Amino acid sequence: MERSSLAQRAVHLSATMPRPGAHEGIPFDSGHAFPGVLPDLRAAAELALSEYRAETLQYGVRPGLPELREWISGYLHGEGAEVPAEEVVVVNGAKHGIDLLCRLLLDEGDSIVVTAPTYFTAIPIFKSFGASFIEVSQDEEGLDTSELEAVLARLVREGRRLPKFIYNVPDFHNPTGVTMSRRRREALVELSARHRILILEDSPYRKVRFEGAPEPMIKALDRANTILIGTFAKLIAPGLRIGWVSASTDALARIIQLKSDGGSCPLTQRIIVEFCRAGGLDAHIQSVQRTYGSHRDHMVAAVRRQLPELSMTVPHGGYYLWLKLPEGMDGDELTTRAADAGVTILAGSKFFAGQPQKNYIRLAYSHATPVQIDEGVGRLAGALRSMASTSARA
Ligand SMILES: Cc1ncc(COP(=O)(O)O)c(C=O)c1O
Repeated sequence: MERSSLAQRAVHLSATMPRPGAHEGIPFDSGHAFPGVLPDLRAAAELALSEYRAETLQYGVRPGLPELREWISGYLHGEGAEVPAEEVVVVNGAKHGIDLLCRLLLDEGDSIVVTAPTYFTAIPIFKSFGASFIEVSQDEEGLDTSELEAVLARLVREGRRLPKFIYNVPDFHNPTGVTMSRRRREALVELSARHRILILEDSPYRKVRFEGAPEPMIKALDRANTILIGTFAKLIAPGLRIGWVSASTDALARIIQLKSDGGSCPLTQRIIVEFCRAGGLDAHIQSVQRTYGSHRDHMVAAVRRQLPELSMTVPHGGYYLWLKLPEGMDGDELTTRAADAGVTILAGSKFFAGQPQKNYIRLAYSHATPVQIDEGVGRLAGALRSMASTSARA
């Protein structure tokens, strides 16, 4: 297609389709589920396609199946957030929720706050709406609210426009694995209320917890200013492509008009409702926690054994290890060398909306088997050594 035919938002996108087999190798790159932990949904699907056939093979209702919205409201109540079903809209996964919220909230040139690093898949979505980024650092307590406070105070002093929203992943952050402390959550809520800036809370990994007690959801601390983005991708299975957005009813009334699918797939929604009603979710979450907890332990031990020069903070949940390379080592180059050695990882530079920091990599422990984890970390260590010796010779 001629470049001149393209919208500005599409000009910078890659024009090459992903290579088939591009993801061959030991998979530490993607946040895929471990195949052995995918639940058996056959009974729920059977019911959905027999008893509920007239509902599930018909166009769905735009805000989502009422019973699923009720279920989500009950689930959030269990997490301490009082969100009535009318304040929940079903969407096609969290990324779709992010996209819809950008459509609702962003004009070309608006700024938004993200952590540095942040969830890399959200970056091109934000960019496609012409957003500019205010990056705020993170430490072991999550987003640095003192830094954010200083940035906002400067914008106010200079009479500049404030950001439209603060996008944050407070539980087992992707990619760092960090969980935001209660103190910081409260500070964030206070800042957002003081400056009237919305918080977008994206929390897919909240239940993928291996130890420790949960911090309160930001939505539980502040229902009015916080928009919650949820997903069944990590709660049940990513292939379902069902998630939700929880916001005020007037925001949701507009969102459903922006939803070009008409309504999310009623068949999948009914399968989820029946699976949860039959009590399948609790057992599934336990199996997720057991499996990924053991994968995490395996990968942490393998990294400590084979890559002692890399530093990390061990996450208490989620899917990822965020590893800092020795000063001067390039995560992009290591990613290429690792792929040549048959292990796919993600370069840390992908996770920065602005100036990338190069000396990080992200490893997912979710998808690979424990045997592959040992083998993959060994191959990665080989790639790192060969890179170190090349640069020592240069
Ligand atoms: C922070 C974050 N948000 C959203 C998602 C994706 O959610 P979904 O698959 O429901 O679009 C992920 C998955 O990797 C994620 O890490």
